[in-house]
Amino acid sequence: MNFFSVLIDCILSFGRISFLALIGAFDTAASFVDDTGLLGSRRKTATISEWIRRLMKRRPDVVRRMTPPRKLIYVGRGDFLAVGEEFAGYLVGLCNLRPEESVLDVGCGVGRIAIPLTQYLAGEGSYDGFDIVGPGIEWCRQRITTKYPRFIFKLLDVTNTLYNPAGRVDPLEVRFPYEDETFDLVFVVSVFTHMLPQGVEHYLSEIFRVLKSEGRCLMTAFLIDDVAEQHLAEGVSPLYPRFNCGLYRVISKDSQEITVFHEQANLLRLIEAGGLRLARNIDYGSWCGRRNYLSYQDVVVAEKR
Ligand SMILES: C[S@@+](CC[C@H](N)C(=O)[O-])C[C@H]1O[C@@H](n2cnc3c(N)ncnc32)[C@H](O)[C@@H]1O
Repeated sequence: MNFFSVLIDCILSFGRISFLALIGAFDTAASFVDDTGLLGSRRKTATISEWIRRLMKRRPDVVRRMTPPRKLIYVGRGDFLAVGEEFAGYLVGLCNLRPEESVLDVGCGVGRIAIPLTQYLAGEGSYDGFDIVGPGIEWCRQRITTKYPRFIFKLLDVTNTLYNPAGRVDPLEVRFPYEDETFDLVFVVSVFTHMLPQGVEHYLSEIFRVLKSEGRCLMTAFLIDDVAEQHLAEGVSPLYPRFNCGLYRVISKDSQEITVFHEQANLLRLIEAGGLRLARNIDYGSWCGRRNYLSYQDVVVAEKR
């Protein structure tokens, strides 16, 4: 039985959402919180994430009620709430998110990062998120917006061979449904790992448009640089981008968006060309086998100049 027949079996057996959950487990999304405290001892930012975690530790009932059932979680394995808290921690620690600011969550999934932000944003603070998978958005509207009306979720029918193959809008033609210069901070977590460079380039231009001047953007990706290349050659990573398509690599030729690895130099070029500039050095992830890392995926923080 080869890889593709396993995938097809999965689709037939479990239905689309369960299939997405399976793929998510395989992917990034795999980003995890290091409960050993390894992160905390190495990086200042992780201390802040620890702080958020402590804040959330008791996980009040209101948080538990917003947590989707397992069958709806298609955004990756690991502790759903803990991963959300980890990234909320990065928004605060790496991007200086303040409670009264406005944020946009591009590819918000089932509210993994929105949930901890309900406990952080306050006053004028607001959250908008959009995604291309209907059941996730429906869950967020029912469980989050009803309790936190400043948390708004939108569904866009954008094509993605993994998440929304029947979508009617090409990613290159999407206009984010927000006015120019609306947000202080835009984040795109584990989404560019499912988009090809041209789509990423277009999304970066939309991010630039909706960001306020000096707004910040946190994005995650699998970046191929010399170090990643070397680790991959040594075979220490369970992820193996077999097909080299020039500016990006994939694990599946037929369904490229299952997992996309971007050439670091090209992603940095797209960020610059889109009018953003790096706000800090890249925080590399552990996905390719690095021993010094912040998270699972590589984390890039940029700002609108
Ligand atoms: C691994 S999940 C991550 C979800 C969320 N960011 C999180 O961290 O929980 C990837 C998400 O990207 C969304 N996605 C894929 N292509 C997209 C696109 N072109 N525009 C917006 N969302 C997209 C998927 O529907 C899915 O929810």
